[in-house]
Amino acid sequence: MDHQPNHHSETPQSSGDDRIRILPPAADHGAAMWRVARDSGTLDLNTSYAYLLMARDFAATTRVALQDGEVVGFVLGYRRPDAPQTLFVWQIAVDDVARGRRIGARLLDSLVDDLSDVTTLETTITADNAASNRLFASFAERHGAAHSTQPLFAEADFPDEGHPTEHLHVIGDLGSTH
Ligand SMILES: CC(C)(COP(=O)(O)OP(=O)(O)OC[C@H]1O[C@@H](n2cnc3c(N)ncnc32)[C@H](O)[C@@H]1OP(=O)(O)O)[C@@H](O)C(=O)NCCC(=O)NCCS
Repeated sequence: MDHQPNHHSETPQSSGDDRIRILPPAADHGAAMWRVARDSGTLDLNTSYAYLLMARDFAATTRVALQDGEVVGFVLGYRRPDAPQTLFVWQIAVDDVARGRRIGARLLDSLVDDLSDVTTLETTITADNAASNRLFASFAERHGAAHSTQPLFAEADFPDEGHPTEHLHVIGDLGSTH
C-alpha cells in the first residue's frame, strides 16, 4: 500500500532512481522502520513502540525511502532540544537488498535539504562500521562542510556488555550549502 506523507509541503525526491521515493513517514510507517532496523544486522533495535512514536511525533525530521510503496530504508532524527538548528541522526538503515544504490546518501540529502535552517548534523558511529563512517564522511564532502569526531559514549558508559565506543560526528556549517 502506498502512503501519503504527514507533511504535504515536502517535495518527494526521486532523483537517481525513479522507483525510489523519499518522504516524511506516515504514522503507520513506524512498523516498517522497526522491521528495517531489526533486519539491518547492525543497529541497536529499539522497541516497536519507539518507532511508531517517532513516526508520529518526529516525522518532520525523519524520512522513509519507498520502493513500490514499501519502506526499504529510513533516517530517524530529531532537533536537539537545546540546539534546535542541530539535527541529530539517531538511526539510518537501508535494507540489505537495496544497499549500494545511494539510498542512504539520498535519505540524508533529502532530509537536510528540507530543513533549511539546520546548520549542523550530528550522529554517533562505532569505529567498526565502515559503511556508516563512509556514508557520513561522503555527506560532509558533498556539502563542503567540516567534519570532526570524538568519543561520546565509551564502552564503560553502557550498562549492557559488549557495546563498542560510540564516536560523535559533527558536520557543519551546513548553513550556506543547502
Ligand atoms: C550505512 C547504510 C545506511 C548505507 O546505506 P547505502 O544506501 O548502502 O549507502 P549509499 O549507497 O548511499 O553509499 C553512501 C556512501 O557509503 C559508501 N558505502 C556504502 N556501503 C559501504 C560499505 N559496506 N563499505 C564502505 N563504504 C560503503 C558508498 O560507497 C558511498 O560512498 P561515496 O559517496 O564515497 O561513493 C547501510 O549500509 C546500512 O543500512 N547499514 C546497516 C545499518 C547501519 O549500520 N546504520 C548506521 C548506523 S546508525
